[in-house]
Amino acid sequence: MLWSAVLLSALAVLASAQTNSPTNNNLADAQRFLSDYNARAQDVWNAYVVASWNYDTNLTEHNNDVLLEKSLALTEFEAAAYVNKTKFNTTGFPDDVIREFDFLGSAPQEGDTARRLQETLSAMGRIYAVGQVCDQDDPNNCRGLEPGLTEIMATSRDYEERMWVWLRWRDAVSKAIRPHYVTYVDLKNQIARANGYTDYGDLWRRKYETDTFEQDMLDIWEEVKPFYLELHAYVRRKLYDVYGDKINLKGPLPEHLLGDMWGRFWTNLYDMTVPFPDKESLDVTPAMLEQNYTIMKMYENYTIMKMYEVSEQFFGSLGLLPLPATFFQRSMLQKPTDREVACHATAWDFYDGQDFRIRMCTKVDMEDLLTIHHEMGHTQYQMQYADLPLVFRDGANDAFHEAVGEVLALSAATPQHLHAIGLLDSVPDDPDADINFLLLQGLNMIATLPFSLVQDLWRWRVFAGDIPESEWNKKYWEMKAEIVGVVPPAERGEDQLDITSIYHVANDFDMIRYYARTIIEFQFQKAMCDEAGITGPLYKCDIYNSGSAGTKLANMLKLGRSQPWPDAMQEMTGQRKMLADSWKAYFQPLYVWLQEKNRQNGDEPGWDVNWRPDASSASATLPATLLLLAISSVTGLLLFA
Ligand SMILES: *[C@@H]1O[C@H](CO)[C@@H](O)[C@H](O)[C@H]1NC(C)=O
Ligand SMILES: *[C@@H]1O[C@H](CO)[C@@H](O)[C@H](O)[C@H]1NC(C)=O
Ligand SMILES: *[C@@H]1O[C@H](CO)[C@@H](O)[C@H](O)[C@H]1NC(C)=O
Ligand SMILES: *[C@@H]1O[C@H](CO)[C@@H](O)[C@H](O)[C@H]1NC(C)=O
Ligand SMILES: *[C@@H]1O[C@H](CO)[C@@H](O)[C@H](O)[C@H]1NC(C)=O
Ligand SMILES: [Zn+2]
Repeated sequence: MLWSAVLLSALAVLASAQTNSPTNNNLADAQRFLSDYNARAQDVWNAYVVASWNYDTNLTEHNNDVLLEKSLALTEFEAAAYVNKTKFNTTGFPDDVIREFDFLGSAPQEGDTARRLQETLSAMGRIYAVGQVCDQDDPNNCRGLEPGLTEIMATSRDYEERMWVWLRWRDAVSKAIRPHYVTYVDLKNQIARANGYTDYGDLWRRKYETDTFEQDMLDIWEEVKPFYLELHAYVRRKLYDVYGDKINLKGPLPEHLLGDMWGRFWTNLYDMTVPFPDKESLDVTPAMLEQNYTIMKMYENYTIMKMYEVSEQFFGSLGLLPLPATFFQRSMLQKPTDREVACHATAWDFYDGQDFRIRMCTKVDMEDLLTIHHEMGHTQYQMQYADLPLVFRDGANDAFHEAVGEVLALSAATPQHLHAIGLLDSVPDDPDADINFLLLQGLNMIATLPFSLVQDLWRWRVFAGDIPESEWNKKYWEMKAEIVGVVPPAERGEDQLDITSIYHVANDFDMIRYYARTIIEFQFQKAMCDEAGITGPLYKCDIYNSGSAGTKLANMLKLGRSQPWPDAMQEMTGQRKMLADSWKAYFQPLYVWLQEKNRQNGDEPGWDVNWRPDASSASATLPATLLLLAISSVTGLLLFA
C-alpha cells in the first residue's frame, strides 16, 4: 500500500470527523457496526501479528518492510473505525456495548506519525535483538544476550568480567537506542493526546481503570518495603563476603552483581545467599538434565522439550484448555542457528481464535521450566477469551495477564510439587528448608518490586515532560539509588540511556504490570488454595490436580477485558482491590528470619544514597575515548566519600 494513500484517507476521515457530531443513537445500528468491526478487525489484526511474528523470528529487511505495511494498514483501519464510532451517541446503550465502543479504534494521526513510530519501534527492537558483547581479551569472540551474556551474568563471580559485560551491553544497546527513544517518547505522546490522554504515561495508567492507580501502587510499596530492606541488607552482606571491599556494608548495591543483566531478578544469587546450605538443594536443573529433559519427540514431525509437556500437564490437571496441535508446529521454542531472531520469551495471540504461539530460546534449567509456566499462562488466557469480541480479548488488566502463569509457577516451584513430578528426591520437612525455599522465592518476588516500580515511575515522569532530556539518565540513577538502593558500577553519562537496556523498555511494554502481578498472583493463589480446600501455609500450597481451583481460574479468564478488572478480581477472590496481604503472609517467616539474621550480623536496613562503587579498575579496560568519563567518576567518588 502506498503511504500517500494512507495519509490522504487519514486526513479525509479527520475532516469528516470534525464536521459530524454524534447523532446516531439506534442500538441495532450500533450492534451492526460492532459485528462488522469484529468480523473485519480479526483479519487486519491477524495479518499484522503474522507480519510481526515473521519479523521477530527472522529479522530481515524484507520482513521489516512487510511488517511496516501491515502496521500501517492496521493503523488506517483502526482510525477509520474510530471515526465511524464517533457518529454514535452511546448514551443509554447497554454497558457492554458502551465498553466495546470505548476500547474500539484509535484516533487518526496527522502526517507520517504512524510510519515513523513503526520505524522507530522496529529500529529499537532490532538493536536490542542483535546486541552483542565481545570478550575483553578476544574481540572476535562475541556473544548475544541469550544464552551467552545471560549465562555469564547468572554465574560469574568475577567483578571485572561482570562489569565489562554490563558496560559493553549498554554501549551496544541502550546507547544506540537513546536517539530513537527520544522520537518514541514524542510520537507516543502525540498519539496519546490525540486520543484524549494528557500523555502516554497517562494512557498507560488509564489502562488500569482506577483513578487512584498510581497512589495504590505507592501505598503497596510502603507495605512491602520493610521486607525489601531486610532482603537488601542480607544480600549486601553476602555480596560483601564474595566481593569484599567492592561492597560498602552501609551502601547501595552495584547493579552488575545481582544475577542478571539488570538486577531485575536476584534468583541467581541463591547459591551465594542460601541460608542453610547443608539442606537438599532446591535447584532441579541437574535432575532435569539427568532425566533427558533436553529434546523429546512430542509430535511426529516436531521435536519439543519435555519441559513444555510437564507444563501443559499442569494446566491439564486443573481441567484447563489443551494447546492446539498447531501450537507445537508453529511456535519457536529454540533459538534457530540459521537467522537472527528476537529471543525474549513472549506468548502470541493471532486473533483468529485458534493460532496461539510462544517464542522462546529455551534453555534446559529450572528457571526456564518456570518461565514456560509463565508463558503458558498467557496462552491459556488467550485461549479462554478467544470467543469474545476483539477488543475484549485481553487481560482484565495487564497485571492479570502476567499473573496467570505465575500462579501456577507458585505451585510448580514448591518442593512438594517437584517431588511429585520426580525432580526432587524427597520433600524436606523442617523450618530451615522452608527458609531456604522462601529465600529462593524472595530473591525473585521481593527483589523485583522496586525495580519494576522505578522503571515506570521514571517513564511516567518522562512522558509527562517532568524530566528534561538532558537529565534523563541522571534522574534514572537517582531514582534507582533512592528507591531500589542500586547503583551503576561506574559513572554514567547522558550519552547513555540505561533504562532501555532491558527488553520491555526497548520494546514498548509498561513494567508496572510486573509489579502489580507480583502482588495479585498471591491473592489469586490464596483464592485457589482455599477453593481447593488446601490448608496450611500459603507457601506450601500446590494446586496441582485441583479441578475446582481450575474452574475458578477459568471463569475469571473467560471474562477477558469485558468487565472492569475489579469485577474479575471479585470473581476470583471475593473482593475488589489489589492487596498485599497474601504476599506478606507468604513471606512472613522469611521476614522474621531476615530481621534476626541482619541484627546478628550487625547490618541495618537502608543505605547511604550517595555512595558509589570504586570504578577505578574500569579505566584500565576502557578505550581511550571513554577514559575521561572514568576519570571523572573517580573524582566524583572522592566527593561522595
Ligand atoms: C527469512 O525471511 C526471508 C525473507 O526475508 C525468507 O526468504 C527466508 O526463507 C526466511 N527464513 C526462514 C527460516 O523462515
Ligand atoms: C467506516 O464507515 C465507512 C462509511 O460507512 C465505511 O466505508 C468503512 O468501511 C467503515 N470502516 C470501519 C473500519 O468501520
Ligand atoms: C446523546 O443522547 C442523549 C440522550 O438521548 C442527549 O441528552 C445528549 O445530548 C446526546 N449527546 C450528544 C453529544 O449528542
Ligand atoms: C537418557 O538418555 C540416555 C541416552 O539416550 C539413556 O542412556 C538414559 O537411560 C536416559 N535416561 C533416562 C532417565 O531416561
Ligand atoms: C506436521 O504434521 C501435521 C499432521 O500430520 C501436518 O498437518 C503439519 O503440516 C505438519 N507440520 C510440519 C511443519 O511439517
Ligand atoms: Zn509475561
